[in-house]
Amino acid sequence: MEPSPKFWNIIASRYSKQAITDEAAYQKKLKVTQEYFKPDMEVLEFGCGTGSTAIIHAPFVKHIRAIDFSAKMIDIVKAKLGQNNISNITFEQNTIEAISIKNESYDVVMGHSILHLLKDKEAVIARVYKLLKPGGFFVSSTVCVGNTTGLFKYIAPCIKYIGLPWLTVFTSEELIESISSHGFSIDYQWCPDNGRVAFIIGKKPE
Ligand SMILES: C[S@@+](CC[C@H](N)C(=O)[O-])C[C@H]1O[C@@H](n2cnc3c(N)ncnc32)[C@H](O)[C@@H]1O
Repeated sequence: MEPSPKFWNIIASRYSKQAITDEAAYQKKLKVTQEYFKPDMEVLEFGCGTGSTAIIHAPFVKHIRAIDFSAKMIDIVKAKLGQNNISNITFEQNTIEAISIKNESYDVVMGHSILHLLKDKEAVIARVYKLLKPGGFFVSSTVCVGNTTGLFKYIAPCIKYIGLPWLTVFTSEELIESISSHGFSIDYQWCPDNGRVAFIIGKKPE
């Protein structure tokens, strides 16, 4: 069984209208990320959803290539782009596993609310490391179901069998350990939402 875009295609329109759960935390993550940006930077975002974060960051960098495996999410992004008059983002339906990109192409790779949805997050983190230039940054914000106290963390791995997204359970500590184990040094870490979310910036050595 593989993660499928079916669920995301169904909810794309509703997702694009949803309010952000914790606006203050979102604004802080945007601000911290922008402190890492420079106007000449090339950025890749995977699992970009309806593109809101890429659109906000676009004025701070040279170019953002944003990808998502849901065709419906990408359709919504493209409609938004038309309204925003932004020329330095390209959106495409693709996955970080399959996309063809030369190693050491990017200054920053972003993956928000996506690492817990992957079948093999270790392979993806390893790919991100390769795609980054030396000294580049991996910026991620991830739901860490392992940090929650309820019963959901025991049910989470099974929800894929009833048409819901693939969901992998890990704690923020396990995620930090995993990102470090691929060669990144942890440049920034913050766990908002009572520790349920891990915002991590890993740096690839120079
Ligand atoms: C929770 S949304 C997050 C969207 C956006 N990054 C954000 O923070 O709002 C997850 C997104 O990842 C995409 N996605 C989920 N699993 C994926 C996978 N295995 N490969 C590629 N994209 C995936 C979905 O289509 C969806 O747009």
